[in-house]
Order: sequence, then C-alpha cells, then structure tokens
Amino acid sequence: MSSKELVIVLDFGGQYNQLIARRVRDCNVYAEILPYTTPLDQIRERNPKGIIFTGGPNSVYDETSPHYDPQILELGIPVLGICYGAQLMAYMRNGVIEHAPTREYGRIEITAEPKSKLFTDVPEHNIVWMSHTDYISTVPEGFAVSAHSDACPCAAMECPEQQLYAVQFHPEVTHSEYGKQILHNFLFEICQCAGDWVMDSFVEDTVKALREEIGDRGVVLGLSGGVDSSVAAALLSRAIGKKLTCVFVDQGLMRKDEGDFVEDTFTRLFDMNFVRINCQDVFLEKLKGVSDPEAKRKIIGTEFYKVFWDEIRARYSGGFLAQGTIYPDRIESGKGDAAKIKTHHNMVERPADIQFEGVIEPLKDLFKDEVRRVGEKLGIPHELVWRQPFPGPGLGVRVIGEITAEKVKILQEADAVLRDEVAKSGYDENLSQFFAVLPGVKTVGVMGDARTYDELVAIRAVTTDDFMTADWAKIPYDLLGRISNRIINEVDHVNRVVYDITSKPPGTVEWE
Ligand code: XMP
Repeated sequence: MSSKELVIVLDFGGQYNQLIARRVRDCNVYAEILPYTTPLDQIRERNPKGIIFTGGPNSVYDETSPHYDPQILELGIPVLGICYGAQLMAYMRNGVIEHAPTREYGRIEITAEPKSKLFTDVPEHNIVWMSHTDYISTVPEGFAVSAHSDACPCAAMECPEQQLYAVQFHPEVTHSEYGKQILHNFLFEICQCAGDWVMDSFVEDTVKALREEIGDRGVVLGLSGGVDSSVAAALLSRAIGKKLTCVFVDQGLMRKDEGDFVEDTFTRLFDMNFVRINCQDVFLEKLKGVSDPEAKRKIIGTEFYKVFWDEIRARYSGGFLAQGTIYPDRIESGKGDAAKIKTHHNMVERPADIQFEGVIEPLKDLFKDEVRRVGEKLGIPHELVWRQPFPGPGLGVRVIGEITAEKVKILQEADAVLRDEVAKSGYDENLSQFFAVLPGVKTVGVMGDARTYDELVAIRAVTTDDFMTADWAKIPYDLLGRISNRIINEVDHVNRVVYDITSKPPGTVEWE
C-alpha cells in the first residue's frame, strides 16, 4: 500500500472496530487496524498521522484487560480514544474511572463544548450512541471535560496541547448524529490529514506495484465468479494481461447461465488467459445417493479443490498464486492479526507438490464496499460487482436431499424466473439475498382437467446487515403472485410455489 497518510486504529476488541476504520476511509484517509499487542516501535515506524483507540468489552482496572504502553501518548501523534479507549487514555494518565450502578445505553443527548476542535460544526446539544458501564469520574491532570450528558460527567475530554482527545460515546455508528463530523474533525482539524486516499489512486498504485512484483512471471488465480475473485482478476488483468491465467471451475451448480456470464465477462472485457473447466458430471457422480447437507458440502468442496489443483499441477505451476482475500478476512477482533484466513474456494490449502514463488493478494487491505468500488472503476458489470452472496456449494445446498441434473435444471429455471421478476420490479434494491429452493416435495395439483403430481418450489428472500440475523422480506403480494404464476407456467415439473416466512434465528438463510 503506497498510501502516504495512515491512521492506525488500535484494536482493543470492541465490536465496532471495523466500522471505525471504514468511517476513516470514507473520509479518504487510509486506516489500518492493528492489534493492541503491536509493539510501540512498530507503530512509531509507520509514522501515522493519528491513532484511534477502539472500544472494548473490558474494564481498565481488570488486570487481564488489554492495556498499552503509556508512551504512546508521548509520541506527539494525535490520539482519539473511543469508549474503552477513552477510559484507557484516562487510566494511562492517572485519571479515575468508576463503575456506574447502571449501564448508559442507547441514544443520549450530550452537551458539547463549542470551542473544542473535536466539536467544530457540531451543535452544542446533539445525540450520540452510548454503550458503557464504567465512566471517567476524574479527568487526568492537564485534561478538560469537553462534553457531558445527564448521566455521564465526562462524555468527552481533551488535552489539546498534546493533541489527546477522548469520547465515551461511539462516533462511528450512524446513531451518533454528528459522529461523522466528529471523526472528520479529528482527522482534518487535529491530525491535519490531507484526505488523498481515493480509489483511483488505489487502482493506479496497485497496478504499478503488481507489475513491479510480478515482472515476466505468470500468475494463476482461481476465479469463482464471486465479487472478490472477480475484482482481483480484473485488477491483475489490468496489470499483467495475458500473464494472468484465471481458472474457473464450473461445477454445474451455479445459477442459470451464470457460468456463461462469467466466461463472457472475463473473455470479452478483460485481457487474460481464461480457462473454464466444465465438470458437472464429475460432481454429480460423486454426489450420487448423498442427501446429508454436510456430506454434500464436503464432497463439493473436496472435489472443487481437486479439479482446481489438478489443472494447476498439469499446466501452471511456478510463478505466483493470486487470491481474492479481502481485509475483513484477515482481521480477528481483539487480536487483529492475520492468523485467521477465510476458507473460501479462492483461498485453498496448497498441495505440497505445487510450488509458487509467492502469493499475491491485491485486495487484502480493502473492505467489501471498497472492493466493489474498485470493481466498478475497472469496468466489471454492475450485475457482478453487486452480486448477492452465493454459497460456495452453490445450488447443491438448495436442492434439498440428493442432487440430480434434472433437479438442478428445474431449480435453475425457477430461480431465473424469480430473479427476472424481482429485477423488473426494482424490488431487488430492498433485498439482501433471494433465491429459489427445491425441497424435493411433490404435491397434487390440477392443470386444465388433469391431476398433476409435481415439484414444490420455495422462495426465500431476506433482509439483513450482516447475515448473522435476518428478517424474511415483506415482498408485496402482487409481486409474489407474478413470480408464482410464471414459475408454474414456465417451469416444467413445478405445480406449486410457497414463500418462506421464517426469520433467522430460528431459521437459517439457506435451507441446508
Ligand atoms: P445461513 O444459511 O448460514 O447463511 O444463515 C448465511 C449466509 O452464508 C451463506 N452460506 C454459505 N456460503 N458456503 C458459503 O460460501 C456455505 O456452505 C454456505 N452456507 C450458507 C448464505 O448464502 C448466506 O449468505
């Protein structure tokens, strides 16, 4: 990353840490999350324009809670402490922290000191998001209280001479009305950032760095058709063209026409060596007679790696292996190290007999929304850049029970009608994920004068922020009606459509 300006977000284990870094980046300042175990020397070497201490679940007086070398406050680098980070700053300078009898939680009005640089262009009375039990009861020497609420004598404190600022509330969450402005003030009024981190320069800088690193050698990338591997492919294509080989394993469990769409996109719009391996037969053979969901997942995953590595072994060993790893894949909250790496079909364990000079992860510092922005800049079609999540095992977990080619075909057709109707209505903007499921249930129906005994199709559509919990989507009845009519009329072997009205929990998004 050739960014000139850096703000370090020092991670003390709070739940909003990634959000803090994203908000800073929204201000065009590059932010990186580092674990609180990072040695002070390393922080000094990175020469950050500012440091943010995150929140955390602990109490500063608890000896097992994360602490940090107080020397960090002496570096002459502006520091903003948030929530636990604010208490930690007070603790490091011998302020007093107390345990309140009740937790202050939710939207709270604070009264802010208008002269504080941190509250520039913020009304004196404004709403913030609080979530704490401990509070700073006595600020350290040299500090002044710069905001308070009814329940919290120190909602913010500061020592402007030493550029040290702290807020008890969470400016990074949208419930804090002026949170964005407060972070902006820290970055621009206090840290004197220039705000020159933009996606255009990310693309240019990364392409340049990739060319230097790769030289004349080849790079091989496993392309799944998902957002991350697609954007990594497009970026590498821009950098090295035909020296990039993308291997696309089409296991025949993607949505209707999706394999062709991926092939068309990458062969028509991007310069690269594109290899598609069609292997539905192989997968279906392995899956014959298997109906347990986890067993199906395992077989699909194992077979995928096998096909992929056999192809690489045969033709493309040497050079570099590229992966679509993104920043959240590498962050483990509270530890912040790169130990946790996603198991994804772009990110596979390498067989010992396949050697590469190195691994290239051009998106490893980006959040998902930034990856999408890069994708758009590189000219990847909107449909692919904004693609909804799709499980690695594909339709394999949406055909319930044993998978056959016929069942996959019925599901692909039904799912294509669903997608078409939802897209035509524009309702897809309201949905986080939606798809058809083939439960393998036959029901009686009547078509003309004849009795039918055919397949049931279920529609699943959810809204969610993080997929940990999800609501079933309240799709308008008339749209559901059109979807049902068209599926029954257009898809052979389907005579009934139902809509899944289960939230998560207790249901999961997928049926298997
Ligand atoms: P669940 O069903 O667990 O789904 O509520 C949450 C999100 O994860 C996706 N999902 C998967 N993704 N491999 C994947 O790559 C899987 O085996 C898998 N199972 C579920 C699901 O589509 C949803 O977005």
